[in-house]
Amino acid sequence: MAAARPHVHGFWEADGATKTFTHALDPELLSAYIPRDARVLDYGCGYGRLTARLAALGYERVVGVDPARAMIERGRRESPWLSLRHRPALPLPEEDGSYDAALLFAVLTCVPDDDGQRATVAELARVIRPGGVLYVSEVPIQSDERNVSRYTRYRESATAPLRPYGTFTTPDGGFFRHHTPGHLRALLDDHGFGIAEERTGTAPTLNGHIAGYLQLLARRRADGEPRGAGEAGVAGEAGEGRTRS
Ligand SMILES: C[S@@+](CC[C@H](N)C(=O)[O-])C[C@H]1O[C@@H](n2cnc3c(N)ncnc32)[C@H](O)[C@@H]1O
Repeated sequence: MAAARPHVHGFWEADGATKTFTHALDPELLSAYIPRDARVLDYGCGYGRLTARLAALGYERVVGVDPARAMIERGRRESPWLSLRHRPALPLPEEDGSYDAALLFAVLTCVPDDDGQRATVAELARVIRPGGVLYVSEVPIQSDERNVSRYTRYRESATAPLRPYGTFTTPDGGFFRHHTPGHLRALLDDHGFGIAEERTGTAPTLNGHIAGYLQLLARRRADGEPRGAGEAGVAGEAGEGRTRS
């Protein structure tokens, strides 16, 4: 297990903690893969928006964790009945396989570096039991002018460390990354998650713009288990991602 690492950008303790989050949870997809009695981890839960949504849908064993103290404090103020825990660093204190499912909604977008993303997904692979489910919602790379110009601006800025195309900053201090679908598929696949289903749609962003989103429902393979015939392909856009044999 990697040593504990602080892994939250200061934005989430400041302006970020005042935002309203928007990625839509699909109740049909949720019910199809995650039974009501499942132990569910809402990872990067923010102020517990989806922790509360799941509780309202009848999920009774939901725990939300977030590395930003301001987020957890807000969640406890707004929804004191929820189980919300401040987890400032990895690894989590949870036992291996202690959850049947996890949500990862709009969190990878806040972790621009590949190492941080890998550490996040590896930790979820540890705490989700084999056969358990990971439900991811992310913003893929957008092609509109506003996004293209901020991706380009960030990439060309003299002081920025090298980041993949899709990384950008916002005027209020946020630091984000949009991903290719192939990157997300490969990230899950590399950590033992077989993608069972994907959905796309559009939703408002943190700052009120409209953006496309991609949701992936993935099942954790048992250690050593080969990729299943029923898993969706890993191949992404031409030239990235991988093709499954
Ligand atoms: C856009 S919000 C989404 C919150 C929640 N998942 C939702 O959809 O309502 C992103 C959250 O990820 C958290 N976060 C930032 N960096 C993180 C990291 N490295 N690991 C886990 N969570 C992180 C932030 O503190 C914030 O609460």
